[in-house]
Amino acid sequence: MEDSTKREAFQERIDKGETIEPKDFMPDRYRQQLIRMMSQHAHSEIVGMLPEGNWITRAPSLRRKLILLSKVQDEAGHGLYLYSATETLGASRQEVIDDLLNGRAKYSSIFNYPTLSWADVAVIGWLVDGAAIINQTMLARSSYGPYARAMVRICKEESFHKKQGYEMVAKMAEGTPEQQEMIQDAVNRWWWPTLMMFGPHDDDSPNSAELIKWGVKSKTNDELRQSFVDRHVQEAHTVGLEIPDPDLEYNEETGHWNFGEIDWDEFWKVVKGNGPMNRERLNARRKAHEEGEWVREAAEEYARKRKLRQEKVS
Ligand code: 3HC
Repeated sequence: MEDSTKREAFQERIDKGETIEPKDFMPDRYRQQLIRMMSQHAHSEIVGMLPEGNWITRAPSLRRKLILLSKVQDEAGHGLYLYSATETLGASRQEVIDDLLNGRAKYSSIFNYPTLSWADVAVIGWLVDGAAIINQTMLARSSYGPYARAMVRICKEESFHKKQGYEMVAKMAEGTPEQQEMIQDAVNRWWWPTLMMFGPHDDDSPNSAELIKWGVKSKTNDELRQSFVDRHVQEAHTVGLEIPDPDLEYNEETGHWNFGEIDWDEFWKVVKGNGPMNRERLNARRKAHEEGEWVREAAEEYARKRKLRQEKVS
C-alpha cells in the first residue's frame, strides 16, 4: 500500500493545480487511469484514420484529396504522440497495441460507423473533430504534463480539421438539391453517434468522479456534451441544416439547447464490439499490424547494430 501521506501530498498538488510529471510520485490508480484513457485515446486516433481514409482515392477534387490526405496523416501523428505519452507512464507500446488488436482495449465508438458518401467526410470533420476539440481543449489542462502538452499540439491541428469539414458542409448545404440531400442525410446519420463520443451520463460514468478529483478531466461527460450541442446546433442552423432530434428546443432560461435522450442500448452495443463496422475496423488494424512486422523488425535490428557500434566506440 502506498504511504498515505504521499497520497495526501499528491492530492494537495492536484488541488493547487500543479502539473504531475512522469518521475513524480503518483498513486498507482492515477497511473492506471491515465494508461487506460490515454492508450484508448491513441487507439481512437489510429482507428479514426480508417473511415475517412476510405474516401482518399475518391475525393471530388485534387484540393479535397490533398486536404483529406493531410488530415488523415495528422490523425496518425496524434496517435503516435499519445502512444509516446502513454509510454511515459511505464506502459509498453507493444502491450497497449496488443490490447487493441486482441479486442481488450476500447476506442471511440464513433469510428464504428460506415462512411457512405463524400458528405460523411465533411460531417466527420465538422461534428466528430468538433466534438474532439471540445473534449481535448479541456484535456489540454489535464494534471498529467505529457497528456496536457500532447493536447496543445493536437488541438491546433483539430481546429484545421473542423474548419475544412465545416467549409465542405456549408458548400454542400448551399449546393444542388442532390448535395443538400446528401449533407442532410450525413448529419442525420452522424449526429447521435457523435453525442455518444462524450461517454455515458455522469451518473453512469464509473471513471469520471475519480478523473475529476485528480484533475485529469475538469468537466463531466454531460457538461462537455452540452457545450457540443450548444455550439453545433447554431452552426447547423447557420447553413440551413436540421438536427435530427424532435426534442431539440432552446431553453431561454438556461441559455442552452435541451435535447433528446441518447439510445444507450445502441451505445453499449457499439462499445461492446457489435456496431456496424467494429469487425472491419479491428481486422483492418490487425492486417496493417501484420504487414508492418518487417518494418518493426528492421527498426529493431538497426537499433541493435547501432547500440553495438556505440559500445565498440566507447
Ligand atoms: N466509445 C468507446 N468507449 C467509451 C465511450 C465511447 N464513446 N465513452 C465511454 N466509453 C467507455 C470508457 O472507456 C469506459 O470503459 P473502460 O473503463 O473500460 O475504459 C466506459 O465506457 C465508461 O465510461 P466513463 O465515462 O466512465 O469513462 P471516461 O470517464 O474515461 O470517459 C471518454 C470516456 C469521454 C472517452 C474519456 O475517456 C475521454 O475523454 N478520453 C480521451 C478523449 C478520447 O479518447 N476521445 C476519443 C475520440 S478521439 C478523436 O475524436 C480523434 C479526432 O481526431 C477525430
